[in-house]
Amino acid sequence: MALAGSAIGLGNIWRFPYMVGQHGGAAFIIIYILCSIIIALPVFFAESLLGKTTGSDTIGALKKTVPDSPLMAEGGLAVLAAFVIVSFYSVVGGWSFDYFIRSCTGSFQGLQITEASQTFKAMTDSVWQPLGSLAVFLSLSGIIVAAGVDKGIGLFSKVMMPVLFIMILLIVIRSVSLPGASAGIEYLVKPDFSKIDGRAIADALGQSFFSLSLGVGCVLTYSSYMRKEENVFYSGIWTAIFDTVFAVLAGFAIMPAVFAAGLPAAAGPSLVYETLPVIFSQMGPVVPFLFFLAILIAALTSSISMMEVCVAWMVDQKKFRRGTATLCICCLAFILGCACALFPKVFNTCDFLTSNVFMMIGSFVFVIVVAWKLPKVDVRTQFTNYGTSKAAKVAFPVVWFSIKWLCPIAIVAIAITNLL
Ligand code: PHE
Repeated sequence: MALAGSAIGLGNIWRFPYMVGQHGGAAFIIIYILCSIIIALPVFFAESLLGKTTGSDTIGALKKTVPDSPLMAEGGLAVLAAFVIVSFYSVVGGWSFDYFIRSCTGSFQGLQITEASQTFKAMTDSVWQPLGSLAVFLSLSGIIVAAGVDKGIGLFSKVMMPVLFIMILLIVIRSVSLPGASAGIEYLVKPDFSKIDGRAIADALGQSFFSLSLGVGCVLTYSSYMRKEENVFYSGIWTAIFDTVFAVLAGFAIMPAVFAAGLPAAAGPSLVYETLPVIFSQMGPVVPFLFFLAILIAALTSSISMMEVCVAWMVDQKKFRRGTATLCICCLAFILGCACALFPKVFNTCDFLTSNVFMMIGSFVFVIVVAWKLPKVDVRTQFTNYGTSKAAKVAFPVVWFSIKWLCPIAIVAIAITNLL
């Protein structure tokens, strides 16, 4: 549940639907699912294996597996990347907190599209409002992380993930039953491959990495807390299934409503904060409340996983106490988060650097270490839980081929496409 919580986040509810909108609907969803199965899932297995077998934080895991190799530097980069992501991600998390409060006070009732755009602009342009929401969001994440891996992160994820699924299902039911919703449903199920180009494929692959939280040590750190009998293969498969089902459900919660209201599907990043409040405001006070609460919970379960990467490093390597480490990370993330909230350039640079550079380098190093530095027999033994998992045994040759060849090639290819 915690791994699913890390994976399911703003990437699913905010990024995925607008990318589907920009890249022509169903065809993009199909490409996304293929990328997740063929490339992202094997990267997940590699990162998870490193965490489970070493039982260490990101830096510790690389110290144990590739000591004296320059690849070890990736450990530091991953912690830095997790820190940078948590800083700008919490800014968007803060917006969802702000919108959640507005939905509680009923301020979306009767909203028009121009007012919605003004509300969003006024919020992001103001100085104190985003900083206040950022502080609240970071504090909420900090409280959960400081409470510990079992009593904080584990408990929060176990309780909140089912709640999240129920909420999104309720919104889907409401959205698809609106008059005029069928055009939106058709958009999500009828593929138009003419919209698919190199950019769309690179975006689908990049989105699958972002959505599964790959390359920044979140999967590695959470997997280091797995029990021996737990299986990297099954946890990976379930995380990918939950994550993809949730992203598609978010698409069905949003697109039919957008089409029913006759608003543009390709609105881009503003879809969730400008277009949706207008549509949901026409559905009574409950739908916006449920939707922004869902975004807030999803954002929290992801931000705690990034914070945990940094906290685990401070606790394991620097011998800080958990509470002190969490407080330090929250304060530092608040400083960088303020810069992201106030200067769009800083926000965009952090977003670009982490998704297009750091996550790619991290994923590349994790697959190289597992497939090219560790003995194949050891990887097979760990992957199949000492030969006890039949399904993992059957899947191993395919997974191994992907980790060894397909993943490194695909990562280099998207990195080049993204940087061009
Ligand atoms: N997977 C998260 C989402 O979809 C984002 C994330 C990225 C979380 C990297 C952790 C690490 O929103």
